[in-house]
Formats: sequence, structure tokens, C-alpha cells
Amino acid sequence: MTVPQTLPTAGSAPHPRAVLFDAYGTLFDVYSVAELAEQLFPGQGQGLSVLWRDKQIEYTRLVTTSNHGAHYQPFSALTRAALICALKKITARPGESRSASQFLIDFEPQIERLLAQYQHLDAFPENLGVLQQLKQRGIVIGILSNGDAAMLQAAVHAAGFDGLLDHVISVDPIRTYKTDPAAYALGEQATGLKATEIVFVSSNGWDALGATWYGYQTLWINRYHLPFEELGTQPHRIGGDLRAVLEFFPS
Ligand code: LAC
Repeated sequence: MTVPQTLPTAGSAPHPRAVLFDAYGTLFDVYSVAELAEQLFPGQGQGLSVLWRDKQIEYTRLVTTSNHGAHYQPFSALTRAALICALKKITARPGESRSASQFLIDFEPQIERLLAQYQHLDAFPENLGVLQQLKQRGIVIGILSNGDAAMLQAAVHAAGFDGLLDHVISVDPIRTYKTDPAAYALGEQATGLKATEIVFVSSNGWDALGATWYGYQTLWINRYHLPFEELGTQPHRIGGDLRAVLEFFPS
């Protein structure tokens, strides 16, 4: 296990009483679709999964920051749109033009298979045990995610997390995405706790940063040895996998 690094901002935080997890990338491995993508598009599976994820997040920001949210679409719709955009990029050939409707006809089977796979993403292997240990220690646990309710329910079920989580919070009812403070506020509203009493866990650097700015105690899960965001704020802790969250709750 990677020993979590305590960073200078950890200082005088109160003892946390709850943990909220980001879903996609943190509990569920969004890059696990790469295997199927590789079968469908040999040599391009990894690239497609990265492009798809980046475009999906870009779209959440686009609809949140434009025209006061007038262009909001649920995460499942943005996920589909991002996949189509990413597929168009990787399948584009110089001199070849295909209408939007023809593209959808030609690639419908691949699109449907990849989206179906997204409903059953692999959970990282240590996650179930960590959630169980937190429950045994009496900690309130939940998800706070951009995902809409149906997607989250399917992912939770596929990962075998049914009955473990006290809260599965989706931003969808308020039609705005993290890092909008209104999205992070949902965690306080659902738990009845202050952000300073909650550990927010994300493997997405931007999400760990947004949650830190909002006021949560934060743990960034850095599975891939990446640099953190360079915007002058650090998460409270950094860990190599989800087990690092247990360090907030010595038994
Ligand atoms: C989520 C995405 C952003 O679950 O990872 O909120």
C-alpha cells in the first residue's frame, strides 16, 4: 500500500464523520472499456478510451459554464455524445466524408456495445474491502457524482456495492456538474454534515481540487503517478489507491 502523503493544508481539520467518493475513475475504472475498445478498433482502444473520457469531462464543463446551464444534458447523454465525437476522431480518414446519420448507422453496433460496457465498469480491486471497512468503523459513506441516477445504480450494482452505501448522490436533479459549488453542496445537504467533517475522495485531480476549494477534507487517489493540478492548492492527502482513505480513521 502506498503511504498517503500528508500535505501542509491538513492542519486543524475536525475528525471526519463521512466519506463521499467520486464515482467514475475513483470507484469505477473508466479506462476498463479500453479492452473492448481495442477489440472493436484494434490498435486504438487505449487512445479511444482516453479521448472518450476527456471529451465527456469537457462536455460537463461546456454545459455548466455556458448560458447559465441552458444546454444541460444528463451525464449518460454527454457520455454518448462524447463517445460519438471520439469515434469520429479516431475513424476519420483523409478525403473520406460520411454524413452524421450514416456514421451512426455504420457504427451503431460498436457504440451500443461500448455504452453497455460503460454500465458495467470494473471497480478497482481494493474498493469493496475499503467500503466494508469504513462501514465497520461506523463511517457514513456515499457517492457524489456527475453520473445520473440510473447510470450510478447500474454501476453500483455491477460492482457488488448494493446495500453498502448510505448515499448515492447525483448532480442531475440540480442540472449542474462538478466543479460548480452547488454540486459539491449536495454532499452536505444529503449527510447533514459540514464539508469540513466530510472526506471527499477522487482520483480526478480537478475534482479533488474543486472539492478542496469548496471546503471538504480531500484525498486525491493518484493511481498513475501523475502530477497534481498547478493552481496553488493541494488536496489534504494523496494516496496510491483507495486504501489510503482508511488513514483518516485510525481504528
Ligand atoms: C464523477 C465523474 C466526474 O463520477 O468522475 O463525478
